[in-house]
Amino acid sequence: MTDTDIKYLLPGIPDLHKINVYEKEGGYGALKKALGMKPDDVIEEVKKSNLRGRGGACFPAGLKWSFMPKNSEKPKYLCVNADEGEPGTFKDREIIEHNPHALIEGTLIASYAMGVTTAYVYIRGEYVKWMKILEAAIEEAYDKKYIGKNIAGSKYSVDMYVHRGAGAYICGEESSLMNSLEGERGYPRVKPPFPAQYGLWGCPTTINNVETLANVPVIINNGADWYIKIGVEKHPGTLLYGVSGHVNNPGVFELPTGVLLTDLIYKYGGGVRSGKKLKAVIPGGSSTPILRGDSIEGVRMDADSLMEAGSSIGTGGVIVMDEDTDIPDIIERISRFYHHESCGQCTPCREGTGWMEKIIKRINRGEGKLKDLDVLLDVANNIEGNTICALGDAAAWPVQSAIKRFRDEFEAKIDVEKTAAA
Ligand SMILES: Cc1cc2nc3c(=O)[nH]c(=O)nc-3n(C[C@H](O)[C@H](O)[C@H](O)COP(=O)(O)O)c2cc1C
Repeated sequence: MTDTDIKYLLPGIPDLHKINVYEKEGGYGALKKALGMKPDDVIEEVKKSNLRGRGGACFPAGLKWSFMPKNSEKPKYLCVNADEGEPGTFKDREIIEHNPHALIEGTLIASYAMGVTTAYVYIRGEYVKWMKILEAAIEEAYDKKYIGKNIAGSKYSVDMYVHRGAGAYICGEESSLMNSLEGERGYPRVKPPFPAQYGLWGCPTTINNVETLANVPVIINNGADWYIKIGVEKHPGTLLYGVSGHVNNPGVFELPTGVLLTDLIYKYGGGVRSGKKLKAVIPGGSSTPILRGDSIEGVRMDADSLMEAGSSIGTGGVIVMDEDTDIPDIIERISRFYHHESCGQCTPCREGTGWMEKIIKRINRGEGKLKDLDVLLDVANNIEGNTICALGDAAAWPVQSAIKRFRDEFEAKIDVEKTAAA
């Protein structure tokens, strides 16, 4: 069996969303195994596995779990981040639709390891269909006593609830998510204090992405030594790559970390539509820096390789653009999104995202001035790193990278001679 045959998140087993089928495939065996281990040993195994967060920042999951206080008098919480609001990202809903019990089992194992008594799944408001599937699966798991009091015959008890968001991208940011869950406005919180110390209702809290938690059962079942051999050692496991845009065969593909970006586009994505040439790729969701199509030969899809290539793995949402794509037009759309979704709490983001959108619009209308590109970069540079949460960075990176890698396309829309002195 080769690496590319390993599919544990989306194995393609019919009716796997039903608990009886999941159990027949060995499901909830990892939970029973974990309940027979010491909580700290579960955390150690996940640490050893090098499992890194799939929500965009690649933070080591086991390390994050170890930040939770051991002897807290307050209740502890786990928030499952199913907000999935980043354009180009549509993978968590695949897990919820086809393998919801892997998410539930992973959530229960993580909860046990950290001593959590309540887990909330915060799901994107538009995901009504997926919310219903997940709620049905949670009910099945309650009926089978995998959730609730003394789960699977153990002394450990935990509850699990689904909470529907209202379609705000900012509420995918972990501290906004907690405020939103509390019924407050979805504003990001200043850190420190970090969620493990002061999270939901001021209690110790951990936030993990859906895909991160769905990886946990196979790690417990097969061990960290098995897991670490899948893909790239420092960022192992499979990833659900979402390939969209100008490809013949868009979709979600489960493959190991470290696959070639060109393989994702040509082998799995079926190549660029209508036989056109590739112009550009956004490799990890709309916030990750755009790459030139002629610069991706040999680039691999893992955290370190993409950083080296001048971008980021983000959520693994690969957006493919053909030779006819108008890059300033794409950047205008992306900027409109971040301007619209900025919560308005931090001045650089609230004002800067609007200025960026306005300037790019002006350039696209043919009314841009040569100095607009420097102003755009200046605004983007002043947003990056100067806001409470990373939405500001997410808005700045597409603009900075597009001007760096496609400056000629912006200049082509500007009457350079006439506006040089303006
Ligand atoms: C503006 C913004 C939106 C985000 N949206 C999501 C999201 O929809 N889903 C997600 O898992 N993480 C999202 N994140 C990242 C979370 O803040 C957090 O890092 C993540 O849920 C942690 O899970 P992980 O460690 O398992 O990756 C977002 C971050 C920012 C700044």
